[in-house]
Amino acid sequence: MKKIVVLTGAGISAESGISTFRDSGGLWEKHAVEDVATFEAWKKNPHLVLEFYNQRRKQLHEVQPNAAHFALAELEKYFDVQIVTQNVDNLHERAGSKKILHLHGELTKSRSTIDDSLIYNIEGWELKWGDTCEKGSQLRPHIVWFGEAVPNIVLASEMASKADVLMVIGTSLNVYPAAGLLHYAAPFIPKYLIDPDAALYVPQVKNLTIIKQKAGIGLPALVKDLIASHSN
Ligand code: APR
Repeated sequence: MKKIVVLTGAGISAESGISTFRDSGGLWEKHAVEDVATFEAWKKNPHLVLEFYNQRRKQLHEVQPNAAHFALAELEKYFDVQIVTQNVDNLHERAGSKKILHLHGELTKSRSTIDDSLIYNIEGWELKWGDTCEKGSQLRPHIVWFGEAVPNIVLASEMASKADVLMVIGTSLNVYPAAGLLHYAAPFIPKYLIDPDAALYVPQVKNLTIIKQKAGIGLPALVKDLIASHSN
């Protein structure tokens, strides 16, 4: 079965109603990264950090996957689809995709602050000061903050290097190491980039088709074409 690796970013969830980070009106315009998304912020004002992610989690409970998430789930019927997402939402899971690697963590989970291997599902939307792991230490959001290591990047680059087709959807490719994944794919394989603002940042890789559309339009159309070519 052909292997399709799909790198997704905030743009794929935009049509579900979740703000992106760097578009105008995006999250980093409303909040300073250094106040809410670094380990230093957590040490300085954990209440603000918890509140920021609680609000994100609350919003996630109110939105639904969109046509782009569902198209990727449909693609699994015909191809071996591996999603590598920078998103911390669970919309790929809720749309039915099975193989999802989260690079930047997951909003619906918490993690021990003394033992990285202790990860828990958060019931509801709130993680509170005083919520502790089984060893008694405060739980933090299971998010990779700026300046922290991205443990899943090694696995993700192996996946990209084995892809027969690579798709990149809704990411400004501003944040490394995720943005570098494209360069792990073999030069000869077909690559697709779906983003309405794609012209702003065209990665220098071979065999790249740029689809300047919203994910909810461009992705179902591409999936339809790939499925048709699979059946031919
Ligand atoms: N469909 C497809 N792409 C879209 C859509 C849409 N409907 N709407 C916006 N976009 C595109 C924008 O043009 C932009 O290129 O999505 C991209 C979003 O870019 P960013 O906001 O930078 O999000 P992302 O690339 O996922 O950010 C990477 O940065 O702050 C961190 O950890 C956070 O995982 C995140 C990382």
